[in-house]
Amino acid sequence: MILPIVAYGDPVLKKKAKAIEKNHSNLSELIENMFETMYAAHGVGLAAPQIGLPIRIFVIDAAPFSEDEELSDEEMKQLKDFKKVFINATIVEETGEEWAFSEGCLSIPDVREDVFRNERIKINYFDEHFVEHTEIYDGLAARVIQHEYDHIEGVLFTDKLSSLKKRLIKGKLTNISKGKVNADYRMRFPLAKKTR
Ligand code: NI
Repeated sequence: MILPIVAYGDPVLKKKAKAIEKNHSNLSELIENMFETMYAAHGVGLAAPQIGLPIRIFVIDAAPFSEDEELSDEEMKQLKDFKKVFINATIVEETGEEWAFSEGCLSIPDVREDVFRNERIKINYFDEHFVEHTEIYDGLAARVIQHEYDHIEGVLFTDKLSSLKKRLIKGKLTNISKGKVNADYRMRFPLAKKTR
């Protein structure tokens, strides 16, 4: 089932999300809905707060990024097969140089800005079968995880911009929260009091 994506300005996006239990009700259905919602919006990642749930789950399918011609063959392959569910994740280490990449977010349509993040992460998480993993990611794969991980920590990429950049996009963000934006997928706007 495709769910409406919560837009910028909804308090759920600012909340630190809570861990879930293994027997969380309808977990597999929730995961399925999250993938379906993400694909319908042409995203590469979606976190539970973006569908209004303050719990620590995010899903990623980075395959669309694997088409980038500037990537090495190895990176391309890594991204092509990168479809995963991250439950109760903790980033335990971030290392390497900070690099800039133009990020966007399904909750913030039509806004793209360069965000600086560390090159490499070590992450601990549970998969959809509640099997625990600790893995290391770098490059674009790490980037997508860092963005989604921020969502479950109540952080948006716009929070990481310079104060000048924040001022420049403030009006645009206010408009998004009011529903004054064109997105080609279903959204729920906190200040518009309607879903469309
Ligand atoms: Ni996002």
